[in-house]
Amino acid sequence: MTEPLSEPLPESTTVAIVGAGPAGLTLAILLHTLGIDCVVLEQRDRSHVEQRQRAGVLDYRAGRIFSDFGLAGPILADAPPDSHLEIRFDGVPRLLDVPALAGGRHSRIVPQQLLVRRLIAALDERGADLRFDARDVAVHDLDATRPRVTYRDAAGVAHEVACDYLAGCDGYHGVTRRGIPEGAITTYSFDHGIRWLTVLADSPPPRRPLMGISPAGFAAQFARGPRASRFYLQYRPDEDPLRWDEERIWSQLRLRLGDEALPGGPVTERDIVAMRSFVVEPMSYGRLFLVGDAAHIITPMGAKGMNLALTDAEALARGLAAAVRDGDDSGLRGYSATCLERTWDYQEFSRWFSEMVHDAGDGSQVGPFRHRLAQARLDRLFRSAPAAAAFADLMAGTD
Ligand code: FAD
Ligand code: PHB
Repeated sequence: MTEPLSEPLPESTTVAIVGAGPAGLTLAILLHTLGIDCVVLEQRDRSHVEQRQRAGVLDYRAGRIFSDFGLAGPILADAPPDSHLEIRFDGVPRLLDVPALAGGRHSRIVPQQLLVRRLIAALDERGADLRFDARDVAVHDLDATRPRVTYRDAAGVAHEVACDYLAGCDGYHGVTRRGIPEGAITTYSFDHGIRWLTVLADSPPPRRPLMGISPAGFAAQFARGPRASRFYLQYRPDEDPLRWDEERIWSQLRLRLGDEALPGGPVTERDIVAMRSFVVEPMSYGRLFLVGDAAHIITPMGAKGMNLALTDAEALARGLAAAVRDGDDSGLRGYSATCLERTWDYQEFSRWFSEMVHDAGDGSQVGPFRHRLAQARLDRLFRSAPAAAAFADLMAGTD
């Protein structure tokens, strides 16, 4: 590696975006479509970003962003619409026609890495300025008229980019939020006390998104492309599921999903998911705007994390375009409040959903009571049209 230059190369852009996950890439393509100049700085290499497997559902509201911006072709092509949600209670299947209950607003199965790959390809095609391998990214002068971002490229050369606005799209562990002085933001965090083993396997995807509520613990199976499934299994605090052998994983899944014939397959990845929530308020400081996981994380129940990242990006792109093109900064001033309203709605939804499906009938004293509560919550979705519509509205994504 060459020695870093002592003086950085000064550059300038309208919007500097830190992070090339769903939030940063969506913001970049929307800004590009609106004719606003931007630079994206990403610490990891391109193939790492393109291969990172996480979310799998693009809700109706988030998918609509791409149609509204004329990007449905390159981004949404061949993404199958979501169908009924299947919830098995003690092995007995219940089918909820979520798109019909949401007035025809259907989500789509879009693995996050496919979305990311498509966004990168569309940005490349448009000649956008995407910089991978950006090391030691640091943000400066956030409340000045021209904030700056500094970084080193893969060859060790130092760079400095001055900008009008800075977008912190660098996820929960990123650096941009840490550039905000203490006391300028309030942090809310919550540990739901629930842990999942998540397993990616080369086993046929379910016909429809599938969840199991069972005395043995929650389990779920979701599609990840035509040949793979992502499974989730709740485990008890005294267990270490990373030591479970494959036979135990498959037998637990068969038990909890009530399907003796569930086909197995090679496990390609396994990990632990701690169900945590986190929100910062406000989502901006000076000329820095936090977007997606940099501002909030949500449990995977309800599949809202990536969708929130995308709706934040849309609100920010529209606010920036109005400010840059028309001198109207009302969208930027309202950015945080707009995004936080949806964020808290989804936090509440995700918590409600988690409460319904976990610990339903475990061996503890509260187990049988929770089992009946879960059944009441589920039954209400089938008995009450308003309850079902409210659920489906949140699943489809709120306006
Ligand atoms: P990220 O995806 O974290 O991207 C941040 C980017 O910034 C990364 O590329 C990172 O490398 C980069 N970066 C970080 N630090 C720096 C730095 N210092 N300098 C430069 N770059 C930096 N959401 C859903 O909507 N639906 C689902 O079904 C769903 N399922 C999930 C399942 C799992 C197992 C997990 C873990 C998450 C799931 N999520 C889901 C959540 C979803 O994946 C995230 O909410 C989403 O990735 C957020 O996008 P983001 O762009 O804000 O952040
Ligand atoms: C997922 O695809 O990972 C997923 C889908 C729906 C959920 C949770 C997770 O409610």
